[in-house]
Amino acid sequence: MSTIHVPVLLKETMQVLVSKPDGVYIDATLGTGGHFRELSTRLDQNAILIGIDADPTVIDHCKSTLNIPQKHQYINSNFESVKAICFRNGYLKVDGILMDLGLSSFALDNPFRGLSFSADGPLDMRFSPTISQTAANIINYADINDLVLIFQKFGEERFSKSIARSIVKERQKSPIESTGQLAAIIKQKAQPQYVNKTLSRVFQALRIAVNRELDVLQKALEDSVSILNPEGRLAVITYHSLEDRIVKQFFKLESTDCICPREFPICQCNHKASLKILTPKPILPNKEEIILNSRARSAKLRAVKRL
Ligand SMILES: C[S@@+](CC[C@H](N)C(=O)[O-])C[C@H]1O[C@@H](n2cnc3c(N)ncnc32)[C@H](O)[C@@H]1O
Repeated sequence: MSTIHVPVLLKETMQVLVSKPDGVYIDATLGTGGHFRELSTRLDQNAILIGIDADPTVIDHCKSTLNIPQKHQYINSNFESVKAICFRNGYLKVDGILMDLGLSSFALDNPFRGLSFSADGPLDMRFSPTISQTAANIINYADINDLVLIFQKFGEERFSKSIARSIVKERQKSPIESTGQLAAIIKQKAQPQYVNKTLSRVFQALRIAVNRELDVLQKALEDSVSILNPEGRLAVITYHSLEDRIVKQFFKLESTDCICPREFPICQCNHKASLKILTPKPILPNKEEIILNSRARSAKLRAVKRL
């Protein structure tokens, strides 16, 4: 592994995540194990740790490099299945779940993963080789309206239509197979002062579509809450507004009793709060952390406890 991933908001995450030092904890986004290793140091010898990651390469890395004294497991799977993973391993309830969303620096800096527009590589973008659709499939075969929708919905990109039109024009000449080819097309359509922002937004949109990131997150949040013990914690670190909005709205909904429309005089929904929000405002990295690790700059940490 050439690139070291520096864990983001490490101390702050541990403060909100750990409530029961001998409990069962899940790191649903193991990565290269920065948070997992730190979590292990905060827990008692008889605690149990489970690390999940969709990317088999980081699972292999953690198996060969981490030295965790407690009983632990590394599981190569999508965190969409967090509940099934727990049940399959004999845990009906757990005491803490962490999701540090997005990508590890290792994956981002590997041009063969096609996740970055800064280096040329195949247009792949899958978090896991088990995902059937690559970014190249979408770019070369999706209907123009679907491309526009992806760039608008998942990238909030203003020039979605003209970028999609250019992609369709270019792919009629020859398939668009590399990040370099795609980046060149996007650059021609971006305003000169916003080239990098436009590239980031379109690449982010494609990555979200390939990995169904937002649907997976919504399901994983719901399932995570259902397997938390009372007082158990769920901590989520997001890196862009679409993810953060989902987490914020989910936490708000599940920490509210009645969710009937305001005009209803009497509650009809019988909804009961199952969560207490521990971070009324998201926790952000301080200046020092951002200077040391630029990838922390967009991070937001939110946490809840199960009632
Ligand atoms: C930001 S990194 C985590 C870094 C980790 N906290 C550390 O300190 O090393 C995010 C990780 O989540 C994984 N990931 C993203 N979405 C996933 C999903 N739906 N299921 C499982 N793993 C996922 C990625 O493969 C990546 O390794």
